[in-house]
Amino acid sequence: MAVTHIGIDLGTTTSGLAYLRPDGTPDIVPHADGERLTPSVVAFEPQENTTVVGAAARDYGDPARTVRLIKRHLDDPGHLVEIDGRAWTPTELSALILAKLKRDAERTLGPIDECVLTVPANFNELARRATAAAGRLAGFRVRRIVNEPTAAAVYYAHTHDVRGRVMIYDLGGGTLDIAVLEIDGGDLRLLASEGARRLGGSDFDEALLGLMADEYRRQHRTDLFENERQRQQALQTGEDLKKTLSRLPNAANLIGDEQLGLSRIEISRDVFEQAMSRLFTRTHMLVEQALDSASLRPDQIDHVCLVGGGTRMPRIRAMLRDLFGREPLACDNVDECVALGAALFSQKAARVREVCNQGYGTLALLEEADTGRVRYANSIVIPKNTPIPCEYSQTYVTSEDNERALEVAVTQGEDEDPRYVDIVGKIRLELPPGRPAGCEVTVTYGYDADQRIQASVTDHLSGRREEVQVEYVGAGVLSDEQIRRRAVEFRSMKIK
Ligand SMILES: Nc1ncnc2c1ncn2[C@@H]1O[C@H](COP(=O)(O)OP(=O)(O)OP(=O)(O)O)[C@@H](O)[C@H]1O
Ligand SMILES: [Mg+2]
Repeated sequence: MAVTHIGIDLGTTTSGLAYLRPDGTPDIVPHADGERLTPSVVAFEPQENTTVVGAAARDYGDPARTVRLIKRHLDDPGHLVEIDGRAWTPTELSALILAKLKRDAERTLGPIDECVLTVPANFNELARRATAAAGRLAGFRVRRIVNEPTAAAVYYAHTHDVRGRVMIYDLGGGTLDIAVLEIDGGDLRLLASEGARRLGGSDFDEALLGLMADEYRRQHRTDLFENERQRQQALQTGEDLKKTLSRLPNAANLIGDEQLGLSRIEISRDVFEQAMSRLFTRTHMLVEQALDSASLRPDQIDHVCLVGGGTRMPRIRAMLRDLFGREPLACDNVDECVALGAALFSQKAARVREVCNQGYGTLALLEEADTGRVRYANSIVIPKNTPIPCEYSQTYVTSEDNERALEVAVTQGEDEDPRYVDIVGKIRLELPPGRPAGCEVTVTYGYDADQRIQASVTDHLSGRREEVQVEYVGAGVLSDEQIRRRAVEFRSMKIK
């Protein structure tokens, strides 16, 4: 029988797979070479059909054939990576990482069929679907997509006897995710969740690379890197320096290479923290925003729980200590708790009440009260952070005489400006002829626990109604049929 209750944290920089032991405790499944976590890096060997995933890919040494940080592009199916004339989508590249995790774990556990996958709380509909598609391509039946901070909270609640309000602060390689929850033993209720993209460890690495490049130029009057290989090498050195500075007040290393000229760089924690102040400030602002969304003050939070490799930075801990007036707790294992929580979630889903991670609305003509000017605006139907499952309605009026059809756009995003929201679905409702403008129509959205949106529009006068299950139909999104066909192809691929 296939193993059930598998949870996977598909991270920007590292991924992990956990399972539930027969006694109900979650554990990470170490992979083939004994490591517990797998770098989320894919490299393509020149031999056809052979890919390398994990530590070997990270150290592959040929940046033109290596793909990193692909998770950052899961909301952009048009971001194609071309290797040997084949264009790989972010979904397929993520599927290679998931397939590697699956195959490695199957050596220990036997056949695996289904899994729960995690995503950053602020992933949009497109990125969530791309993640689920990646799971299916890799050969999984994807039971649920769950938010990373929710998974971490499930683990935290499982391992500690918690009652009260908890903030999960997850600073990973790619994103910062914050969730505020009410935990009562094994029951979890999300109060708010906020996230920021491009605010993770790799953004600190990029910023540090800039600092190193300036210092190198000052010493050598030349650039620290002339090609991608040298740039990657310098980035790695920077990441090592960053990690050392989490332990020690000073760090030193050699930068450059024999060809460019070697140089010793020494950096203090103070200088590092000053140079990163913009990033630290953004992380602080997001905490304030999460508190604001939950309508809570810092003193109303009972526990602050740290998740993600980036929370090893002392500045982050100090910021949270200053704000909350007490030491934040590190989740027992900041690198593994999302995967462990995802495995637990697959069993405890019913005890978790989540919120909508984005606002959903529709495009409507809005008359400005003071100027009488009419403009298109995004009118919110389900506000962000509404507890789910939920159903909300808004009533609008038709804008033209003899309007024969209504096009309702389902939007995702909180902005009032239509340019800054995504259209994730459309409903068309035919209307009877010969009616004046101003006829009432009601738009209803339902959001279920599986994060699916059901949308309907009803015309009051005629009682006509149309309903759709919102399916993201953006360019580059794989259809069910395409996924099935590609999954077969994936099965025969060599992944080392
Ligand atoms: N000691 C440390 N000091 C500072 N940063 C660290 C330390 N250890 C790890 N990191 C950073 O943490 C990041 C990786 O964290 P983690 O594994 O939680 O991210 P991820 O899950 O892959 O990413 P995400 O959750 O954003 O998708 C890397 O950027 C790494 O440099
Ligand atoms: Mg993570």
